[in-house]
Amino acid sequence: MQRVAIVDPTESTRESLRTLLLGVDFVWLEAECARYEYFFEVIQQSMPDLAIVALDADKNKALQMISQLSVEYPTLPILTISYDHQALLQSLQKGAKYFLTHPVGLEDMLNALRRALGETGGHGEQQALGSPTMRATGASSMIAVLGSRGGVGTTTLAVNLAATLAADPNNAAALIDLDLALGDADIALEVSGYENISISDLARNIERLDMNFLRRAMARHEASGLSILRHPLEIAESSIVHEQHVERILNLLKISYTHLVLDLSKSLLATDLMALRMADVILLVAQLELSSLRNVVRLIHSLNSDENLGEKVRVVINRLGADAVEEGISLKKAEEVIGKPIFWQIPNDTKAVIGARVAGEPLIRHAPKSRVQQSIHGLTQALYGKPVSNPKDSRSSKWGFFSKR
Ligand SMILES: Nc1ncnc2c1ncn2[C@@H]1O[C@H](COP(=O)(O)OP(=O)(O)OP(=O)(O)O)[C@@H](O)[C@H]1O
Ligand SMILES: [Mg+2]
Repeated sequence: MQRVAIVDPTESTRESLRTLLLGVDFVWLEAECARYEYFFEVIQQSMPDLAIVALDADKNKALQMISQLSVEYPTLPILTISYDHQALLQSLQKGAKYFLTHPVGLEDMLNALRRALGETGGHGEQQALGSPTMRATGASSMIAVLGSRGGVGTTTLAVNLAATLAADPNNAAALIDLDLALGDADIALEVSGYENISISDLARNIERLDMNFLRRAMARHEASGLSILRHPLEIAESSIVHEQHVERILNLLKISYTHLVLDLSKSLLATDLMALRMADVILLVAQLELSSLRNVVRLIHSLNSDENLGEKVRVVINRLGADAVEEGISLKKAEEVIGKPIFWQIPNDTKAVIGARVAGEPLIRHAPKSRVQQSIHGLTQALYGKPVSNPKDSRSSKWGFFSKR
């Protein structure tokens, strides 16, 4: 928890600043001051990690105080807030390092806090939402999982990838069910201790969305440590969620989680496209059969025309070796059709996958030694550039978890 002190002689703006900061769960409002003259003393006594100075009540006094502070406490980061751009510039000359222009929204504040506290004296750690795992402020990785048609295993992959990431004590992982109308990630994982808040409740209350509300919406799968943001309970509610809501929710979640895995719908709705744009990597799930592979080609083509999203696509073949789903198409042929290497293959393993689903557990808990879980573990390693555990088990092997990038 980072400690912050604020000074703002104007009561109304001080109050909204306080409310804003109360919504951020990695800062603690250590001291609040209503007079510029007293702020130096407040800093002396409270020794915060960050000083926030609202300039508009009396710019001259505020700027003079900033000069004094920056001389006496050169390592203390100062963040200034004003309607007046000129005053903000002057504050930077006097020693402030960060500034925000009024009116300040939660996201602007979060970004500024993250920069100010991440770069300087702060301890660079924060409590993950609903998770005991701590993580360094900063980089968060977002993986979108998209199906090439219904039933190819998108949710199975998203759930088990997220649970595998969550198993690493250095990570705080969350699964976001963006299959808004028909999502079922919450069936694969039996969750507890949640307040029945879904993504549509967050969308409905987007204006007053803060970290506390978001934390309450995250259901937890206790045994795996994975957090889940569920799809709306009523199908009709899915239309409440717009792309801007998704953008805001994901940006807020990025602050508290190291890994976000997104289970997308197959309808390429505006909400899906927003997630695809924001993602670092898009795992496109396919099977070795014609309609799925044809859709891979069509999807990559379509994603390429939208800000070159196609570059982020990694094709994952699921249910490899399942006689019931494959149509005699070889991996080589599939790569020729797609015009892109296959990034990963996941074996068919009905017993493990169905068993885990029925148990409401991820594979890493239900069948940690199964081939399918081993393959998903290898996938996480390949995604994050770690040596893959069994590189020799390549095309020659029936289950071939090889990585080709
Ligand atoms: N590797 C696998 N081995 C065996 N069965 C699998 C595997 N992956 C997925 N399945 C099975 O395939 C079915 C569909 O999986 P899943 O629900 O994950 O697909 P989906 O693409 O999310 O479907 P939807 O289009 O409904 O969202 C499930 O019954 C699941 O158990
Ligand atoms: Mg699904």
